[in-house]
Amino acid sequence: MRNICIIGTGHVGLITGVCLASLGNKVICVDSDKEKIEKLKREVIPIYEPNLEEMVRENIREDRISFTTSIPTGVRESEIIFISVSTPSKPNGETDLRYVEAVSTEIARSMDSYKVIVEKSTVPVKTGERIKKTIEINNPRNIEFDIVSNPEFLREGEAIHDFMHPDRIVIGVEQERAKDIMLELYRPLNVPIIVTDIKSAELIKHASNSFLALKISYINAVSQICEKVGTDIKEVAKGMGLDKRIGHDFLEAGVGYGGSCFPKDLSAFIKISHDLGYDFELLKAVQRINAMQRKKVVEKVKELLWILSGKTIGILGLSFKPNTDDMREAPSVTIINSLQKEGGRIKAYDPKAIHEAKKIIKDVEFSHNPYDLAKGCDCLVILTEWDEFKRLDLKRIKDLLNQPNIIDGRNIFEPKEMKKLGFNYKGIGR
Ligand code: UDX
Repeated sequence: MRNICIIGTGHVGLITGVCLASLGNKVICVDSDKEKIEKLKREVIPIYEPNLEEMVRENIREDRISFTTSIPTGVRESEIIFISVSTPSKPNGETDLRYVEAVSTEIARSMDSYKVIVEKSTVPVKTGERIKKTIEINNPRNIEFDIVSNPEFLREGEAIHDFMHPDRIVIGVEQERAKDIMLELYRPLNVPIIVTDIKSAELIKHASNSFLALKISYINAVSQICEKVGTDIKEVAKGMGLDKRIGHDFLEAGVGYGGSCFPKDLSAFIKISHDLGYDFELLKAVQRINAMQRKKVVEKVKELLWILSGKTIGILGLSFKPNTDDMREAPSVTIINSLQKEGGRIKAYDPKAIHEAKKIIKDVEFSHNPYDLAKGCDCLVILTEWDEFKRLDLKRIKDLLNQPNIIDGRNIFEPKEMKKLGFNYKGIGR
């Protein structure tokens, strides 16, 4: 059992804290957002993740997790300090590390005994060195500490599962003492742990996320070829994925990736590479293809409707992926903006993300369910593959639509089936 402090209770921080508490550790979660901390104390969870609410409640009851806005309190009562504050992108793609620096300074000033300080946020390679220097210059009593890089690979909507059942744990560390502490901390998960140097651990994160985004853009590029020759990208992807070296995962063509990680991590990796003197053209192509996928959806709407002005378009799915309410970099935002610019009137429905969408998207009529949405629409556009949409009563949907037009941005339906039902159906790469 270890005493752990999590600084930054966003997606990664809160999940890390709750899961480590469930593994029997004593966890103090720190955040500068007083309101968020007060809500967490009352078991009001700011993000939607399956099982998260129950796990917070259980760990509060077992007195294994607590919440505070005070970094000194959290640091003094813990041996392992996770830095999981946000590392947003600057307009030029560079990672904004101001919060990491500020928190590192405060940790240094609060330390009263040996600490393991863990980089959990996704940070550019060599950030560990910067954190170390920042702590050294703010540590007049020369208290011993070690830096560890321990990047996270959790997916939103599967975060707790991914934390508890990772394919691997990455530990970047220089000192034996810190290595032993981190190995003991993660031993209960009983999964492969790679122990390497700090810079390699930092690079593994950016290189992994960029590769996953590359895989998505690759299959989206192939889907463009499939449309031109009249084949089905799902058939092609299936044939590719049976090769163990390729694998089936992240080969689903669609409207492209969004979320708070892929876009940010790609921009960061391109910028880091540029500053190191390498022009990462391959990743720039990944970005271009991803942006193009969204434009393709608007083109398909225009192919079906011709003039958009005065037409009503129904958007099914707003979140960047299913099982989350997260709208960050969601394809729906750019696609809706483009359709509105062409004069389209937008209705939208999402099982979870409407409250988030209202903060970002204007002049949209939000519906309470897919059938209310379909009423009076000239075209339906599916942008997020929520299970609820896969079970739609399609005959009822068709009767509610002005025109039987469907654009399936996530290929959740079968073209033959849809054509039999009388829809003008357009998928991606089919
Ligand atoms: C991702 C990484 O998977 C995770 O390891 C990292 O820690 C954070 O970033 P996340 O962004 O939460 O996780 O979601 P993910 O499931 O990876 O999907 C990312 C985007 O890619 C979504 O917009 C999804 O719709 C899209 N996607 C995913 C595809 O378009 N096709 C696919 O085959 C898979």
